[in-house]
Formats: sequence, C-alpha cells, structure tokens
Amino acid sequence: MSLREICWNRGWQFAAISHEDNNRCNKEQPFEFISVVLPHTCKELPFDCFDERVTLGHWLYRKDFSWEESFCGKRVALRFDGVMCCAEVTVNGKTVAKHEGGFTPFIVELTDALIPNRTNRIEVWVDSTENPKVAPFGGVMDYLTFGGIYRDVTLIVTEPEYITSFKIWGENLLTNERTVAAAIELCPEAVHVGGTLELILTDKEDQKVFTAIHPLEPGKMIYRFSQPLPAEKLTLWSVECPVLYRAEVVLKCKNGHIDRLGVRTGFRQAEFTVHGFYLNGEKLNLVGTNHHQAFPYIGYAAPKRLQRKDADILKQELGLNIVRTSHYPQSPHFIERCDEIGLLVFEELPGWHHIGNAEWKQNAQRQLEEMICRDWNSPSIVLWGVRINESLDDHDFYTENNAIAHRLDPTRQTAGVRAIENSEFLEDVFTFNEFVYNGQTVPIRQQQEITGLKQDVPYLITEFAGHMYPAKRFDAEERLIEHALRHAKVQDAVLGDDTVCGAICWCAFDYNTHCEFGSGNRTCFHGVFDAFRLPKYAAWFYESQISPKVRGVLRPATIASMGERSGSGLCPMVVFTNHERIKLYSGEQFLGEYFPDREEFPHLAHPPVIARRGLDFLWGDFWKGIRVEAYDGDVLAETVEFARDPYAVGLTAVADDTVLMADGSDATRVVLSLVDQNGNLMVYNREVVRLQLEGDATLVGPKYLPMIGGSTACWIRAGETVGEIRLLAETDYFKALPVTIILQ
Ligand code: GAL
Repeated sequence: MSLREICWNRGWQFAAISHEDNNRCNKEQPFEFISVVLPHTCKELPFDCFDERVTLGHWLYRKDFSWEESFCGKRVALRFDGVMCCAEVTVNGKTVAKHEGGFTPFIVELTDALIPNRTNRIEVWVDSTENPKVAPFGGVMDYLTFGGIYRDVTLIVTEPEYITSFKIWGENLLTNERTVAAAIELCPEAVHVGGTLELILTDKEDQKVFTAIHPLEPGKMIYRFSQPLPAEKLTLWSVECPVLYRAEVVLKCKNGHIDRLGVRTGFRQAEFTVHGFYLNGEKLNLVGTNHHQAFPYIGYAAPKRLQRKDADILKQELGLNIVRTSHYPQSPHFIERCDEIGLLVFEELPGWHHIGNAEWKQNAQRQLEEMICRDWNSPSIVLWGVRINESLDDHDFYTENNAIAHRLDPTRQTAGVRAIENSEFLEDVFTFNEFVYNGQTVPIRQQQEITGLKQDVPYLITEFAGHMYPAKRFDAEERLIEHALRHAKVQDAVLGDDTVCGAICWCAFDYNTHCEFGSGNRTCFHGVFDAFRLPKYAAWFYESQISPKVRGVLRPATIASMGERSGSGLCPMVVFTNHERIKLYSGEQFLGEYFPDREEFPHLAHPPVIARRGLDFLWGDFWKGIRVEAYDGDVLAETVEFARDPYAVGLTAVADDTVLMADGSDATRVVLSLVDQNGNLMVYNREVVRLQLEGDATLVGPKYLPMIGGSTACWIRAGETVGEIRLLAETDYFKALPVTIILQ
C-alpha cells in the first residue's frame, strides 16, 4: 500500500486549562470541552485594545478515534504543521512526543502507542505562554503569537519502510544542459529490505519529463540522483511564469511494500550579487512587503484559503515580486501559493531582537533546520534568514546558523536581518532595515556606510517606513498621501542605486502587538493595508507600478473634498497611476494636463502624477466636482469621478469567494462599504453595520461593525453542512444585497 495522508482537522475537543494567571497547569481537574475544527486559536479576540495575556496559557485538544483494520502492520503518524508554542502529545495518556516552537511542523509517530481494535485517545497539551526557553521569546517583541493548534494536522499511514525526506533542485540551469538533482533519505527500516528507488518528474500536463531508477543498496540511507536534461526539456520557474513540476519518489521494496513521496517544485537560478538580484540570469529589482501571518480575531488560525489570499493580495493586487516572512516561517499554504503565482520569498527563523541562552539558541537552531527542511523544494524561496531579526552580533551563534543553512541547502544564499551599522557580515547577503527616511533626510544611505566594509557586497533593504510614519486607513488624506509618498521615495532611491538588490517595506498589513509598541490600542498601523487587508494610499502606490501591459491603474489619492485638508482645497492632487498622463476636469471645465513627476521620482517606472496647480477651488467655492481622466497616447484609458456633493447612496457587501468547502474551517472575507453616487467610499461615515448570517456558518468577529474609513470587513467561517449560506448586512439607512455563498 502506498502512503496515505488524511486531513485530521475535524472532530477535536478543546478545553482551556488555565490562562490569564498563566502559572497554573492542572492536568487533573475536569475540563469543559467544546467541539472545534482546526486551524484553531485558543482564544478569539476583539479587534484591538485587548490584553494579550488572555492568549497566554495552557490548553487541551483531544481527539478520540477508532483503530482501523488498515493500520495493521503499517506505520501510523501525525503531522502537526504548527502548534503555538509548545506541545506535548499523548496517546491513551502516555506521552509520545514534545515539540517546542510554534512555527515549524513536527511528526508524531503513533505506531507503537496505538492499541488495536479499540478507540484511541490523542491529546495535545498546548502551552501558549511566551516560554523564554523557546525562540522568539525572552525579550519584548513587536508582534503577538496567539496560541493553539493553528495549522493543519494530517494523519499519515505508510508501510514500515518509508521515505523520510526528498529534496530536489536544478543545477547548471543557465546552460544548454540543465541538471535535475535530488537527495532522498529513507527510514532505517528501509535500509536492508532491497528493492528500487525511482524518481519521476512530470510537468503540469502530467507528461513525464524523465524517470530514473536506483537499486537499493544494503545499509544505504541517502540516495542522490542527477539527471542532465537538454534546456528545452525543462522550463524555468520565474515571477512572470511560475512553471511547476511534480516530482515523485517511489520506494519499491522486495517484500512488496511500496511508499511514495511527491512534491511540487520548480527550477530557477536565483542570485544576489553586488550589482543586484538575478533570476535566471536576468536582473530583477526586488519590491516587496514584510508579512505577518496574523488576522483580526483569530490570530494565526487562518485556514488555507485565507493564507493563499494573502499571497494573492501581494502579488495580484499590488504587483510585488517578493515577500519576507517576518519574523518566522509562515503557513505552508502561503508558501505554496507563492510558488504558484511567482512571488519570491525571504523566509527567516523565529526571533525579534532577543538572543537567549545556550538552550534557547539550540531551540532556535532546531527551528531553523525544521524551516529549511520543510520548504527547500519551494522555488519561490530565494533566501534563508539565519539571524534573529535586528539582534546584536553573536559570532559563534550566527556562524553556526549560517553553516546549518548551507549544509542543509547549499543551493540558496543566506542573510541575516540587522538594524545596526557595521555589524559582522557572516552570511551571503547583507540585509538591512533602513529606517533613515523621515521625509527630509536621504531616503536610503550608501551600502558601505551601513556595512562598514570597504567593498560592495550583495545588499538588500529588508524594512523601511513602518514606525517612521504610522498611518491609519481612516487618517486624514494628507497623512495617507505622505505615507504613500514615503514608500515611493524609498523605492525610487533603491531603483537608482545599482548596489541595492531591492527593498521590502514594513509592512503588508496592520497587526496586533504588545503594549510596548503600536498606537495605544496595541495595533501597529504600519501596513500598506489595514488588518482587514483593505488598502491605504501606500498600497495604491505599489499597485501603480504594475506594468500597464498587465492592467491599467488609476488611483487618485484624495476624497476630493473642500474642507479635508489644512487650509482647504485639493492641491496638490496626487494620482497613483501607470497611465501616461492625466487630465483633470471640473464639469466641462478643463483644469489641466499632468504627467508623472520624473523630477521627484526619476527612477520609478510610473512616478506619481502630482497636480500642483489648476485646482483653484477653495473652501466655500461653488464647483462641479472632479473628473480624472487617464490617457495612453490619445486613448482615454480610465476615468475616476468625484461628485461635488457626495452623499451615501448604498451599502455594498462583496465576498472574496462564492463557494467554500463545508469542512468547518474554510473561510472568506466579506468587504462592506458605504459608497456615494460614484462608488467612492464615504470615509468619515460612522454607521454601524449589523450582520446576520443564515445557514451553517459562523461570523468571525462581532456582528455589529463600525464603519471606519468608509469600509470594513468580516470573515465567514463555513460549517460542516453542505448547502447555502446568506449574509445580510444593514445600517439604519441602508441594506446591502444579500451575499450568498455555497458550501460544498
Ligand atoms: C523593525 C522591526 C519590525 C517592526 C518595525 C516597525 O525594527 O524589525 O518587526 O517592529 O521595526 O517599524
């Protein structure tokens, strides 16, 4: 029988053991259980202003399951993709495994612990406290980690002889003869059985690219394959065309047992050099965001669809080409989606400033190993982060971390994110959080000023903006414009400096944090989107850099209102666009023609258009609104209109998905907006939206939502019954058309 993987997310019981006071863990008392489906957060939270200590504590997950005939003679195991932060797994009351570290997967072998022909009980005792022995904990840090079995659990059934790991990569990819290389490791039981090991590579049409077979040799555990292929037989993976292949290893033992391990991969050559980043030999300026994996209300426990959606937002909505998984390994679903859509990834080990004692370091190194082994087949990953984000130098620790990464994966470069100038450079790429720009200073410094080295090295900016200029989506438009222009300024400067590989901004989405950070409500408003993934103007700046061949973008960064700005008026009007020029009209009156500001932003592909004159309306003037027309050549490509007298005409409710799985955890976002005659957001409206859900589904978050910044959002979590669900949304004045979602 070949390997079986069964989703084990359903049918769990959950109980809180102790929290808040967080020093009591009594395994004896009777607990109050509720039924839950994974991914699960140990504590659902308000949107903000909560004390995160309520998420810290001890929790129990329990699942009873029947022994199956098909387990007879097999190896049975569980894979936990992520349990925050420490887990002790028991089978029928006996401890079978412990894992310390909330971001990496672990496998629990059940074979010897299961009792045949009866119901077996699995328990996972979860400790979500910020255990100072475990990375990233021990100091203060600017993010929360929530808690729970917040990723998938999978039941694995194999023969006793199985493949434990499979790594595949490309070599000589820029030559006419490309090579596919692989390393496969077998479990000890498979080492003396005799038989064959076969590697099969198939393309996305399911056509075989090649097959290679090795006989099993007695005592040998690790096998290497190397298969030369003419260039036309192997298409390279790239950000524009992320071609994936399926690779499968089949272990055929002489005793008739078969095991298979399949992975999806792509082949590409990625290199950070002193002159920039090269993908498949072509220079690519890296533009990206940092990404925290947190969501409102549910913390880290977002299911597959939401993880994938985050990657889509960054790549499809903003056109970015890189994301940094700050500051820890993120969901396998997120990484898989990055592979599929061609979004490069800089993945780093868990940490934030603090380096602990020897035990802590060992733990961090184990998590580093687990991260690399989990993701080494992902073509999107181009850099391993082996230093604790923004920590001090630690020669021995970081020399070892670097060596670990190179030993496990010689195919990728390493980096270590720092914020201190002249820090010791041990890795392949000097990655620096460049928080110099305050609106007046230079946007970025020369790399040698930062590295303290006498020669240039591969150099990447891994953070900027963030706390230097927090901006709420509901801030006044002047602040939101300045926020966006700061992003534009830094990205422009990076493009103008050949020795910088690119810049990854801080950050994608606003996030909940500890009280030492944030804006008083324990939220860092550092995102180019808010926590609902709704865009601020800074997101529009990134969107405007999308090639017009992909799609046109026209985003006037204004609400076009007379009294919004200091001193009133609309000048200067900033328009983020990738069209060639814009014309402004008020009614029939032509106000002017405007071009991308190449003086201010000489290096951007599509500098913002800044209309500094021609909009002479002031406070109390009679005017006829604004029409923004975007042109390419003589062709009118797009128009955005602002009414002179905007008023709310309706509430809209739009779901990201209309079909969900009836698996108890699938979810989608619904965006609620209050719009005027032209569909523009009524950003200062403060209505409360009342939500009502019909059918087998639950609302993530409250059922009364304040409109802030003209829109808000909720998530709907599917139940386990196939059928239809409906979300009804209304304010005192408006009713949105019902949102219908099919559960299948
Ligand atoms: C950096 C840090 C990030 C975040 C950011 C805010 O120093 O690496 O995690 O705190 O500041 O701007």
